[in-house]
Amino acid sequence: MIQTIKTTPYTDQKMGTAGLRKKSQVVLQPNYFENFIQSIFNVIKPAGKTYVVGGDGRFYNDIAIQKLIKMASANGVKKLIIGQNGYLSTPASSNIILKRHTDGGFVLTASHNPGGPNGDFGIKFATATGGQCSSQVSDEIFAQTKNISEYRIIDAQDIKLDTIGTQTLEGMEIEVIDPITDYVEMMRGIFDFDAIKKLFANGFTMCFDAMNAVTGPYAIEIFENTLGAAPGSVRNSTPKPDFGGLHPDPNLVYAKDLVNIMFGDKSPDFGAANDGDGDRNMILGKKFFVTPSDSLAILTDNYALIPAYKNGIYGVAKSMATSTAVARVAEAHKIGYYEVPTGWKYFVNLMDSKRITFCGEESFGTGSSHIREKDGIWAILFWLNIIAATGKSVEQITREHWQKYGRSYYLRFDFDGIPTDTANDLMKNLEQKLPSLNGTSQGNFKVKLAETFVYNDPVDHSSTANGMRILMTDGSRIVFRLSGTSSSGATLRVYLEKLEKHDFDAVPREMVDELLRIAMTIAEIEKRTGKKQADIIT
Ligand code: G1P
Ligand code: ZN
Repeated sequence: MIQTIKTTPYTDQKMGTAGLRKKSQVVLQPNYFENFIQSIFNVIKPAGKTYVVGGDGRFYNDIAIQKLIKMASANGVKKLIIGQNGYLSTPASSNIILKRHTDGGFVLTASHNPGGPNGDFGIKFATATGGQCSSQVSDEIFAQTKNISEYRIIDAQDIKLDTIGTQTLEGMEIEVIDPITDYVEMMRGIFDFDAIKKLFANGFTMCFDAMNAVTGPYAIEIFENTLGAAPGSVRNSTPKPDFGGLHPDPNLVYAKDLVNIMFGDKSPDFGAANDGDGDRNMILGKKFFVTPSDSLAILTDNYALIPAYKNGIYGVAKSMATSTAVARVAEAHKIGYYEVPTGWKYFVNLMDSKRITFCGEESFGTGSSHIREKDGIWAILFWLNIIAATGKSVEQITREHWQKYGRSYYLRFDFDGIPTDTANDLMKNLEQKLPSLNGTSQGNFKVKLAETFVYNDPVDHSSTANGMRILMTDGSRIVFRLSGTSSSGATLRVYLEKLEKHDFDAVPREMVDELLRIAMTIAEIEKRTGKKQADIIT
């Protein structure tokens, strides 16, 4: 039976860089989740349509998914395709949306943020493109959340999601699927599985850390069962509601155990990790770390080694904050090159219009037009395929890349937990200052251009401002942005890049030290936030 429930709006349901992301305790407030879902439905008019649904298994996934199913039925949805047990990685969801030509999908995730009652919860909403909805759509949804007065839901028993098959709820079809099979098939269609199999058969070793999040079962199936990596190559492989206490963000800080393994004695040949919902990746070699910006450049440079791309790629895009390493590769290969605001949704139009094949972000995200989200396991398989095809180690591949293109020493400095007003004032002040910096000398650098970054989408002609950048005459850069994924307060991100053509063995932190001092001074970071140093450096 359909129930119409009266509700009152919340004022904070604006989607950020990647959907709605909040503290779990915020989402647990009465009707908070329901209000947001009904607001989406009010905008997308879901009657008669089909959607994909799943989540990364974090705390509240199981309860929220039942609400979503019952609300979908009450709003006239024709069919839901749901990952078994309510689990779906973000890339697997994008694949199913495209493969089954559905009208969109919902992934219940706060991505790389911790889970649990004191962690975060979130909702990503994708359209029929397979990518997250545009800013225009999320603005319309936000407007709905501020006015919502009722939502519709079916009063029914919970739906069983553990068995594959089809059932109905008040006329809505619910198909529970095994999401892994489709995903493995897609990867088999892109990479040279036989070559990678041979690599493992010859004794190549890897360690993959699923960080107790959603990609564990996918990784076991692909790396161990299909490609023959030794049993135990995948660690932390069972998804847990609180990720076993881990912060499932694959970087040098949070994937500490993996880093210790890769930098310890008898380290495996290859190391990698994914985040909570499986769209981020970190790549490591023996005692060696590849920055995500370099990884994007290296994958792009080696596209011809991959069966699915060997006949050519359209072009490549990066978020503005990502290092310029891939720009030099694009130039060498004479392919299209684009810089977009932070957030995967900005790549979607470029992929749909065949302007790009690859794209990536400094925040451990890489992907291609096989889907419309970044894809952690795809990036790892790409590396394995390059290694199998060249017989070279991760370190060798990266060093040869630097020899050819130069090395962009690159680090991101995050200043967390700043009061929102303080952060906004800091950015406003900086913006006013920018014009006066043009042409000035800053330490050993000379400013070529200081500007607010504005992206003009070549497809829908929308225009988006995102962060500020100071470009130096030697190719070095300073970029400032406020995070769009913080679940409370503001995070100032400062991205530093120093281009080096000869010295490839320096310590990155030392290489960008002068740029950091310049950035701190120009933005008045200490004076305004009281912070002498960043909270997190990645
Ligand atoms: C962060 C990353 C961004 C990524 C997003 C979602 O967003 O910086 O590259 O797309 O998470 O994974 P931010 O908090 O910087 O807005
Ligand atoms: Zn993610």
